Amino acid sequence: MKRNQTWQLEIGEKHMPPQRLHRSTSKKPNWIIILVCLISIAMIGAYVFPPQRYSSCYFFSTNMCDQFKDWLPPMERVISDEELSSQVVINEILSMTPVKSETGKIAFMFLTPSTLPFEKLWEKFFLGHEDRYSIYVHASKKKPVNRSPVFANTNIRSDNVVWGKISMVDAERRLLANAFQDPNNQHFVLLSDSCIPLHNFNRVYRYLMESNVSFIDCFDDTGPHGTSGRYSENMMPEVEMKDFRKGSQWFSIKRQHALLILADSLYYKKFRLFCRPGMDGDKNCYSDEHYLPTLFNMVDPGGIANRSITYVDWTERKWHPKAFKAKDISYELLRNLSTVDQFVHIASGKNQVVEWITCSLNGVKRPCFLFARKFFPETLDSLMTHFSPIFQLHIDQWV
Ligand SMILES: *[C@@H]1O[C@H](CO)[C@@H](O)[C@H](O)[C@H]1NC(C)=O
Ligand SMILES: *[C@@H]1O[C@H](CO)[C@@H](O)[C@H](O)[C@H]1NC(C)=O
Ligand SMILES: *[C@@H]1O[C@H](CO)[C@@H](O)[C@H](O)[C@H]1NC(C)=O
Repeated sequence: MKRNQTWQLEIGEKHMPPQRLHRSTSKKPNWIIILVCLISIAMIGAYVFPPQRYSSCYFFSTNMCDQFKDWLPPMERVISDEELSSQVVINEILSMTPVKSETGKIAFMFLTPSTLPFEKLWEKFFLGHEDRYSIYVHASKKKPVNRSPVFANTNIRSDNVVWGKISMVDAERRLLANAFQDPNNQHFVLLSDSCIPLHNFNRVYRYLMESNVSFIDCFDDTGPHGTSGRYSENMMPEVEMKDFRKGSQWFSIKRQHALLILADSLYYKKFRLFCRPGMDGDKNCYSDEHYLPTLFNMVDPGGIANRSITYVDWTERKWHPKAFKAKDISYELLRNLSTVDQFVHIASGKNQVVEWITCSLNGVKRPCFLFARKFFPETLDSLMTHFSPIFQLHIDQWV
């Protein structure tokens, strides 16, 4: 008997630990499941009924809240004083009704290192339209030698411009600030020394003055030279990754948008600090390709055409676009460029087409390009001979 009892006891003892183990393992998961459920409900609740700002912390004590805040889905963030005043100013500028003046002028703003090689060509373009244009030249390296009286006294105070750096944006803003002072300037076109006009003055004038949008090139490049390779998290919280855009720098904008660019310091500062070559170790960001597309994508996406009016040939797929030589110039080439009516955005890397834009003006189909680049100075004579026939060219889409 005693032996048997001992045996039972032994059995009992032997059975006890596994039983306890079994009981405790079956209890713990329940506990965890209940806890996880409670937290999930709280998180779903906070997500579905987002309270103002971070007050979702109503559910947790303040200490716990700090830990849970990181896990919660993004809430409406707190707007800083600087961002609030920036929003107020930008909204006010965008809500102004544009001045419609009969005597409106177009400001032609040239970004060049020095002498403009095509002054003679531009002189022909401007001839006879003296009260409808103004010219501003930003020569970043050397004072230009003028070959045409049209360009006399057009230089503004300039500063060094380094390709790809913020100094490029600074020069654009400097040109805008100078041109904006003339209240008759209604539209502002940025051009380079290698740009030429593709249409006569009357067509260019009407196209730009009639347009109800600004021509700022803007698209979402998902390739390595787009958002993934260039956006920096340091731009948060004002500029999120989803807002980051790319586009050619050669803009053509309405007066209202010129003022907006001059008034902006918040976004400009973000790009000056966090969009530059050699960012975050290996990122090469170029403000002149990203600042304006991103800014307008954020504040006035419906107010821009998302395309440029300056033709450029990227088909060689090099760091710089193709530049036309004297032997390339023909009537046929210029006619082709002036009648293109589709604009394409191609992502970097695998070169896939992001979108085709059918060019239009206030909803009516029109040629895409008023200007073209890049042309070597040696093309001048050839361009001059083709100029008059091209300017008289009948283009069906022009009313
Ligand atoms: C430009 O793109 C934005 C955003 O994709 C869009 O809202 C806007 O309508 C586009 N502009 C035009 C003129 O199509
Ligand atoms: C002009 O366009 C036509 C039709 O697309 C093309 O066949 C021709 O090669 C182009 N010419 C030049 C000089 O670009
Ligand atoms: C510009 O005009 C087109 C065609 O009338 C219209 O669809 C578009 O909304 C206008 N855009 C703006 C910013 O007024």
